[in-house]
Amino acid sequence: MKAYLGALNNGISRGIAELHLTGSGQGGTTDLQFYPAIKQLTLDLAATSFLGIEFGAQANAVNRAFVDMVAAIIGVVRTPIPGTQMWKGVKGREVIIAFFCQEIPRRRAGQASDLLSELCRATKEDGSLLTDQEIADHMSFLMMAAHDTLTSSLTSLVYLLGKHPEWQDKLRAEMHGLRLPPGAPLPYERLGELALLEMAFKESMRINPPVPGIPRAAVRDFQFKGHHIPAGTRVAISTMFTHRMPEIWPEPEKFDPLRFADEAVRSRHKYAWVPYGGGAHMCLGLHFAYMQAKTFFYHLLTTTRVSVEPAYSPRWQMWPIPKPRDGLLLRLERIN
Ligand code: HEM
Repeated sequence: MKAYLGALNNGISRGIAELHLTGSGQGGTTDLQFYPAIKQLTLDLAATSFLGIEFGAQANAVNRAFVDMVAAIIGVVRTPIPGTQMWKGVKGREVIIAFFCQEIPRRRAGQASDLLSELCRATKEDGSLLTDQEIADHMSFLMMAAHDTLTSSLTSLVYLLGKHPEWQDKLRAEMHGLRLPPGAPLPYERLGELALLEMAFKESMRINPPVPGIPRAAVRDFQFKGHHIPAGTRVAISTMFTHRMPEIWPEPEKFDPLRFADEAVRSRHKYAWVPYGGGAHMCLGLHFAYMQAKTFFYHLLTTTRVSVEPAYSPRWQMWPIPKPRDGLLLRLERIN
């Protein structure tokens, strides 16, 4: 984790400087669509972290391919007929698989220690290497899991902080309390001191869980609220519904990071808050996610004030991953 943080600090502080140049504005302020800009940045960060490369000229094509693959999840027509979302998703998958397959021979021969290279050289219990298809499938899933969820959760929190300047000030004060020199990287050992930031991030994922539903299959017969569910039935846990149950979360629409103070958490059911799922398949990347989110907001809020128009309330598309339909119209103002 520590090794990843160096690249995250560099990529994020450079990315935030670019955000200020992306939109329009003058006198130290910039108006921009936040969502597409952060999507590009999280994809770049995932590429640097897990592939050890920058996508460079291919970035747009790869980003487009991931967007099409994710959108296909909820395509109504499930056969890839030309023109349908499913067809675009299948084409997107071809682009991603071809990208990874072309990288594999070079990675197998090299010594690099990024995740893709390690996976290319990893052996199974019988000593054989993973097939090209297995490597490409693992990496395709990982890159999607790592960048789309962070894009959504960073967008949610940046919006909520634009709406709640008082919380922005509290988080900024916590960050200044670290007494790091301006522009310095956020050290791994100090991540734990950003407790309010972690609470705010958790609260944003309560309101807009990046994975709003988690599919499962019943492994044995069971009863649920008077319904008999036979083994093999496909079931889904609605994260979105659970996170907004008023009996667990009073005033569920209200942004209140203090819901995640230690004592409040202890008094709630273990599965009242499940943005990362639970059980054997719980998210493997959650520590990476906290680290990237903290690093992002540390660099953003120590240099920039974010705001939205007072009456602004974007419409959110909630499936398959929450995102503001208009891309989130955000104002950035340099403060350092
Ligand atoms: C805010 C960010 C993230 C959220 C909300 C999130 C959420 C989730 C959820 C809901 C699952 C399914 C869990 C289940 O079925 O019980 C999952 C699985 C997974 N996530 Fe994440 N994730 C995030 C970031 C990441 C990152 C950054 C990575 C990689 C570095 C990652 C890698 C994975 C992997 C590999 C799995 C599959 C685990 C398995 O099936 O055993 N995730 N994630």
